Amino acid sequence: MPVASQRIIVAFLLVLNVLAFPSYSDKAIHLDPRQDEKYAGTPIEFPPRMAFTGAKRIPDAAHPFIAPRPNDLRGPCPGLNTLANHGYLPRNGIATVAQLTQASQEGFNLGYDFARAVSSLAVLTRGNPFLNLVSIGGASPRLIPPLPGAIDGTPGGLSKHGRFEGDVSMTRRDAALGDPGALDIGMLDDFLSYVDRLGDGDVVTQSVLNEYRFHRFQDSLARNPKLVYQVGRHGFSYGEGGFILNLFADGITHNTTRRTFDSFLRTERFPPSWNRRAAPFEFPDIINAAEAIISAHPVPPGKKNAGGTYVPDTDPRLDFPCGLYYNLVGMGVPAVLLNTTGLLRKNVDKLLMEGIHPLFADVCPEPVIPEGPAGV
Ligand code: HEM
Ligand SMILES: *[C@@H]1O[C@H](CO)[C@@H](O)[C@H](O)[C@H]1NC(C)=O
Ligand SMILES: *[C@@H]1O[C@H](CO)[C@@H](O)[C@H](O)[C@H]1NC(C)=O
Repeated sequence: MPVASQRIIVAFLLVLNVLAFPSYSDKAIHLDPRQDEKYAGTPIEFPPRMAFTGAKRIPDAAHPFIAPRPNDLRGPCPGLNTLANHGYLPRNGIATVAQLTQASQEGFNLGYDFARAVSSLAVLTRGNPFLNLVSIGGASPRLIPPLPGAIDGTPGGLSKHGRFEGDVSMTRRDAALGDPGALDIGMLDDFLSYVDRLGDGDVVTQSVLNEYRFHRFQDSLARNPKLVYQVGRHGFSYGEGGFILNLFADGITHNTTRRTFDSFLRTERFPPSWNRRAAPFEFPDIINAAEAIISAHPVPPGKKNAGGTYVPDTDPRLDFPCGLYYNLVGMGVPAVLLNTTGLLRKNVDKLLMEGIHPLFADVCPEPVIPEGPAGV
């Protein structure tokens, strides 16, 4: 057969294929009951690695602090809230994978691979991966509508409990005991009392983190009948403790002082004359920082059973380190995301395979397949 007619047949088959398997981008979708518009997705692209990764004065003149306006969304992450309050992230609190990746590198020198992975996880689990958007706070049905067909319910934003936000936070209550997205001033002051008791009253030290983090676990153990502290949340919670010591610390003095701590946690504002750290903080650094805190008071990952007893996990699929991957992606990302076609499926695959998988691939070469429930 002549090459030209082969080409025509291939082109014809491609057209047929598109007709037979309409992608979400071809369909008219109801954004909300009052609207009837075409709902087009956005192809996800990762930004290039940040070029200069040394210490640097943050914020620069182009990123002044402006307190959030009434409809701006803020949530459980003091790092992202601070970035939004300075316009490193959109001030309304709604961001793409690229914006999250770029802002956390620029503002805090979070490592590129980790930033990509955690930004991907945020959009996959708590945002809309068709539109490439996530709220760093609560739901925003107007700006972040459900996926086509609402196959995963309404995107909750990072404040929604489960999948990403979890128990045993340092400055936010467990979801069963209060608002898990909002700063609890009492907890913040409790944290600072450890600086007075264990340190010089000014510098937030390793032992402050070691003791306060353990105290928070004991408190959740005693008071939260629904405590869930499996390897994903367990790992993140210790990692976030490490962020306070390593990402909030001034890049030149290497200390997180009370003033610095207060600026980030209470006002969610970069402190005056503050410098970001001098080297990227990558996944292995986070593991080390988490390890340093947990080794002071080892606590097994697990959750409470119906009778209210804390049961450490024994399922080998949850064993560290691949268990971390399995818990976050296998259990946390809804299976229905793979039941899609077209651009949505392309975005989902990209976030899973190019966003998250590379973080684990050395140790856990087998990609984890999402098996999680939808709409939770
Ligand atoms: C794309 C990047 C990031 C995402 C998606 C993200 C997301 C989150 C989420 C969902 C939580 C809540 C977890 C919980 O307590 O249940 C959290 C907590 C936290 N994040 Fe981030 N984060 C990011 C980057 C950062 C950066 C750059 C910092 C800078 C230091 C940071 C510091 C923290 C801290 C200290 C906590 C713990 C708050 C507490 O326990 O009270 N995060 N983050
Ligand atoms: C950081 O804090 C430690 C502990 O208080 C202190 O000894 C050290 O001098 C501080 N470092 C700087 C550069 O100020
Ligand atoms: C995927 O779609 C099929 C066909 O509509 C359905 O039977 C199945 O339950 C879906 N799977 C998930 C995980 O939603």
